[in-house]
Amino acid sequence: MKFKKTHDCGCLRISDVGQEVVLSGWVNVRRDHGGLIFVDLRDREGITQVVFNPQIDDAAHIIAHQLRSEYVIAVKGVVQARPLGTVNPNLITGQIEVLVYEVEILNTSKTPPFEIEDKLDASEDLRLRYRYLDLRRPKIQKNLIFRHHLCQKIREFLDRHRFIEIETPFLIKSTPEGARDYLVPSRVNPGRFYALPQSPQLFKQILMIAGFDRYFQIVRCFRDEDLRADRQPEFTQLDIEASFIDEEEIFELVEGLVVYIFREVLKREIQRPFFRLKYKEAMERFGTDKPDTRFGLEIVDVTEIVKESDFQVFKRAIEKGGQVKGIKVSSLEDISKGEIDYLTSLATLYGAKGLAYFKVKEGRCDSPIAKFFDADIQRRILDSLKAEEGDLLLFVADDFRIVSESLGNLRLHLGKRLNLIPDGTFEFLWVIHHPLVEYDEEEERFKAMHHPFTSPLAEDFPSLEKNPLEVRARAYDLILNGVEIGGGSIRIHQEEIQKQIFGLLGISPREAEEKFGFLLEAFTYGAPPHGGIALGLDRLLRIMLNLDSIREVIAFPKTQSATCLMTGAPFEATQQQLKELNIRLDLPCNGA
Ligand code: AMO
Ligand code: AMP
Repeated sequence: MKFKKTHDCGCLRISDVGQEVVLSGWVNVRRDHGGLIFVDLRDREGITQVVFNPQIDDAAHIIAHQLRSEYVIAVKGVVQARPLGTVNPNLITGQIEVLVYEVEILNTSKTPPFEIEDKLDASEDLRLRYRYLDLRRPKIQKNLIFRHHLCQKIREFLDRHRFIEIETPFLIKSTPEGARDYLVPSRVNPGRFYALPQSPQLFKQILMIAGFDRYFQIVRCFRDEDLRADRQPEFTQLDIEASFIDEEEIFELVEGLVVYIFREVLKREIQRPFFRLKYKEAMERFGTDKPDTRFGLEIVDVTEIVKESDFQVFKRAIEKGGQVKGIKVSSLEDISKGEIDYLTSLATLYGAKGLAYFKVKEGRCDSPIAKFFDADIQRRILDSLKAEEGDLLLFVADDFRIVSESLGNLRLHLGKRLNLIPDGTFEFLWVIHHPLVEYDEEEERFKAMHHPFTSPLAEDFPSLEKNPLEVRARAYDLILNGVEIGGGSIRIHQEEIQKQIFGLLGISPREAEEKFGFLLEAFTYGAPPHGGIALGLDRLLRIMLNLDSIREVIAFPKTQSATCLMTGAPFEATQQQLKELNIRLDLPCNGA
């Protein structure tokens, strides 16, 4: 390099006119205007227009002819005000340009497979294959720089609140968080494996027992699970744990942190305290444990009313212990049969056997099935849903789970379809008191709803033996705009209780000893009461930046099938590697 960069491409202003500068960066665009050649020079801070004038320096002008998109160059020149009429108000450096008298081509570039600009029609696969080019786009650079600032502010806040950042290992014994483990074979211990952590859960609890009192870590977690737009096989948590703390203190801390980072990084004021909803009420009113509370369309229970009707579909469902619930849709002008069919197909996608509907017409229910409901029942249905003329009422009859899931998803669909969701708002919500366990029909055993280290609510403790499904957990999820961005709990810190919960989850004393013996033992050496939470950093960022996928806030994300299109991971291990690990492959015939 002949000359050293003095400024970045986003910083020069009209006040710099007359200064000699050196800029380095990538050729964004080159425009040849006969005599003059203009280049938009780009680096991560912005774009500056540089001008080559043959009358100023012929040699530089000749080189400028060779410049193509994505060439890397350094230019030396003088800042000048742009001539009147050529100021670009869309560019922060739009009032100036650099008149070049020396240029050096630092590297050439092949023609990129897509243009480096924010408006983009390249497929995501192509973008991921050439991620280094995709990452040159200003928008995605902005996302990652934002991520950096967010992490700085998180660290600042937690440090101020006496939290200590401590790293925990990646090569560990399994931590159960409900997904499959990624396994790493141990060469020096033939036949044995490490698991990559699904979270640092057990280590942060051990740190509490070790007396660290307040811990946090911005940490990678690994989960082998089915991927979606909001899920990556490796993702980042802001993981927090503290001793001598209860739910109220966790809420206070996390709400304070959220208010701080939104103010500092996004310049937005978030209202506190966050609303709280018990799990049961969330399920009843919204059909989900992560409700989007930015709009209404709440679910209403009409079981008691319609059980007296003559509609067999409803009656049979209720007799089987099920329920009938509905939602009211206003402002849907003249809904077509086709649209009702579509809503029905959506409900059946979530297990409903059908979708009953009424249109409110002249104060009565209008529907092919209205004849099964007498005038009094119709009136009571309309009252309970506060229905008005023209409203559309949709009902599902089934067990609690299917009714909740189908109406919950219908509600989300209609919220979008009817534009009920306001843009640019951030609605935080705590969902608390989840059931401690749920029943897994397939495995015929109870499973922890959060994880097996979560403490039951003291008042529900007596039901643990006889009625475990009724026991509520000291758990809390943080929901933002209908997305679970965090979850945590107050933990069990006594050996006996932990053993009892393992027993309830069908983990035999031997298995408990084998898998979690170190934790049970640690509990016997003075474990303080403790609790914590983990926030999904990628999800939080996605919502803060109003993006569709967490892949937009991760530098090197994986595809739906957990591959890296740039490097080609996962790879086939060589025979030599496998031999060293004492591993022999037994692949299905098609090699899949
Ligand atoms: P949990 O399993 O709820 O809790 O995870 C915490 C948060 O991490 C985010 N998250 C994910 N983000 C992207 N891709 C994934 N595959 C993924 N899985 C989870 C979610 C979620 O709310 N150890 C406990 C926390 C605790 O109890 O303190 C835990 O990991 O936003
Ligand atoms: P059927 O008696 O099956 O013809 O259904 C009559 C109407 O009730 C149709 O609109 C169905 O979509 C609807 N329906 C059927 N099963 C259910 C159910 N479990 N919950 C709500 N609506 C249903």
